[in-house]
Amino acid sequence: MKRPRVQLTRRWPAEVEAALAERYELVTNASDEPLSPSALTAALDTADAVCPTVTDALTAAVIGAASPRARFLGNFGVGFNHIDLDAARAAGLTVSNTPDVLTDCTADLAMMLILMVARRAGEGERLVRADGWTGWCPTQLLGRRVSGKTLGLVGFGRIARAVARRARFGFDMRVLYYNPSAVPDAVVHALDVEPCASVEEVLERADFVSLHCPGGAATRHLIDADRLALIGRDGYLVNTARGDVVDQEALIAALASDTIAGAGLDVYAAEPLVPDALKTMDNVVLLPHLGSASEQTRVAMGRRVMANLDDFFAGRVVRDRIV
Ligand code: DGY
Repeated sequence: MKRPRVQLTRRWPAEVEAALAERYELVTNASDEPLSPSALTAALDTADAVCPTVTDALTAAVIGAASPRARFLGNFGVGFNHIDLDAARAAGLTVSNTPDVLTDCTADLAMMLILMVARRAGEGERLVRADGWTGWCPTQLLGRRVSGKTLGLVGFGRIARAVARRARFGFDMRVLYYNPSAVPDAVVHALDVEPCASVEEVLERADFVSLHCPGGAATRHLIDADRLALIGRDGYLVNTARGDVVDQEALIAALASDTIAGAGLDVYAAEPLVPDALKTMDNVVLLPHLGSASEQTRVAMGRRVMANLDDFFAGRVVRDRIV
């Protein structure tokens, strides 16, 4: 029987590409350059399944321009705000993502950003690399203590819960959260966290605010100038979710005017563009969207896409089906 044709839009870990090639007629992207909108449409026209990443904007225009041979979109990643789900549905596409497997890695990175920005790790590293360090001194690069402080989580899904566990039991932090839907009492009790009635309450009470809500229209600029002001001069913002959850211009203004103490960012409004203003500021730590970037996790993400493809082409229920 003819094997389904599966197109990957970017380079994947070699062992997953090899495993996929054993089962499918695999089309890889040797250059690893993001595909243009017309190349994405062409992929939908010529493959039975397309496996995109966060760098592929599968807009209504891209999907609508296709006479798709494709019936399946196996997203390599948990977030799917780069895919227009209504257009995918209208085109008869089934869509899946990769939850669970990147939870711990992304939570580790959120904790890392909290520590880096509070303890001025980026500044210290730059000092050493620039040969500017003249030796230990009692007043050099004094940051803020993290242990025992209050962490506020906006959104309380899998990744936020994993951050809560680290913060509460690893760093003895008090942990608050806001989530639009109810969280089971057993989870609240086991993680020893406190629910808040609003985003505002989290921002006002926390020393560190970490964002864990999905991107997309519903959360665009959720953290705007007014809400940044609630975080306050001694508060820090960490974003490992999606760039457009924060009004980036308002954040730059808040950092420049010391309205907030600092920020740790892994995501940006128009990746890979990072505003020059941010690059000049010492009170912000900038990472290039590394949340899930460990070898084990990226292999696990690829294998999770493969399991979803296998389900789909075998006619089984697709485990991580979104649409
Ligand atoms: C995710 O899985 O959503 C990561 O941000 C990469 O897309």
